[in-house]
Amino acid sequence: MTTAVIGAQWGDEAKGKITHFLARDAHYTVRFNGGPNAGHTVKDRHGTAKLHHIPVGTLHEGCKGVLGHGMVIDPWTLQDELAALEAQGRPRPKLGFSDRVHLILPHHKLREQVQGSAQRIGTTCRGIGPCYEDRAGRRGLRLGELDEEDTVRAALGAGIAELEAAGCKDPYDVEKVLRDLQEFNEQAREQVGDMRAEVEAALASGRRVIFEGAQGTLLDLDWGTYPYVTSSSTTVHGVGWGTGIRSEQLTEVIGVVKAYTTRVGEGPFPSEDNGAAGEQLRERGGEYGTTTGRPRRCGWLDLVALRYACRINGFTGLALTKLDVLSGLSEVNLCVAYRTSAGTVEDFPAASRELSSVAPVYESLPGWNEDIGGTRCEDELPRAARRLLSLVGDFVGVRVSLVGVGPAEEEIVVID
Ligand code: GDP
Ligand code: IMO
Ligand code: MG
Repeated sequence: MTTAVIGAQWGDEAKGKITHFLARDAHYTVRFNGGPNAGHTVKDRHGTAKLHHIPVGTLHEGCKGVLGHGMVIDPWTLQDELAALEAQGRPRPKLGFSDRVHLILPHHKLREQVQGSAQRIGTTCRGIGPCYEDRAGRRGLRLGELDEEDTVRAALGAGIAELEAAGCKDPYDVEKVLRDLQEFNEQAREQVGDMRAEVEAALASGRRVIFEGAQGTLLDLDWGTYPYVTSSSTTVHGVGWGTGIRSEQLTEVIGVVKAYTTRVGEGPFPSEDNGAAGEQLRERGGEYGTTTGRPRRCGWLDLVALRYACRINGFTGLALTKLDVLSGLSEVNLCVAYRTSAGTVEDFPAASRELSSVAPVYESLPGWNEDIGGTRCEDELPRAARRLLSLVGDFVGVRVSLVGVGPAEEEIVVID
């Protein structure tokens, strides 16, 4: 079984926890998109790990993590991430970096501020957009080029010249950045190579490989709520784009969906609840960003958006997470259609302006009061919770096969 784990909403669906669960017997976990904009949380016996670049499967001994060429990596924050894992007493993860992966350089983060995308889009300010822009503009720097000092100097020089033209004087010390990059290059040298070939060989010899998506379908550069999106391919189509693996090599695609919806940053969100229910979801669900600490916008589960994500990704199963957060609500709303000035629609529109103007049509279900954190099998779930699971599965045409009932690694229900 070769599995892709994909966010079905606007990120933070608990992909980290689900990937960690599925990677128990995996030999490889492969990230294919994004970079330190991602924040994937795993709670295990060592504590709470917050991973930004490092594939979560590496928290299991014997599972190697691959950073595929569709990612963008920040050597400085990557070192911090490794140090935080070490401070928790965890063994150093086994990693492999694609030599084609692009580097986030100090001018990318500064350019993001100058461009104002932090305000306009609500980005994570990690330099993600500018780095992908340079990649597409054919002026980026790839990890495999760090031995070429003239290439590195040219990339830094061009980045600085652009900032200076925008009025940013002496933005950073080039010589220091150059030294840091050379040091990183020496440390990482043995781990850098053709990761497509390595993953292909692993698949050919029957190894279990999990592809770990970052962000979610509705943040995809093309399929998401453009322009309020990230700069990479976040859907199952990103697996080939960011690793070189062919789609027929995937046998399972798990869509991860929260039992409600959250969004960080700007952009349309039809089922957002700015009242007491949204506040309750934020507090009970601990909905504050893993990467930036920002409060997440909260609202009800949007089945129109979820069905759209199912169609794009061809999910073979759904992992419905944070069901425990709904315990204690007298009723649970599910958005089943959108009301527009022209009538009711059941499809997710491409245009953000159109999506901003729709009103949600809700179906309300009775809630439940039981604490479900200790539940380990479907039969033990309250009847109202089971009804919610079957309604979701029927609406979108994909079965819920995993249910998250708490943040800890064992707090999961497998539905056969
Ligand atoms: P990701 O970016 O998709 O990996 O998700 P995040 O890690 O950013 O956010 C998910 C948050 O929910 C983390 O704090 C997890 O520890 C927590 N979490 C994961 N699964 C569950 C669950 O089933 N119930 C509860 N209450 N919390 C969960
Ligand atoms: P994980 O992997 C939630 C959002 C930002 C912003 C938009 C663009 O933890 O689910 P960027 O910095 O990528 O240019 O910001 O995308 N965003 C995320 N939201 N979870 C994430 O990652 C996100 N990564 C980016 O808030 O709206
Ligand atoms: Mg996250």
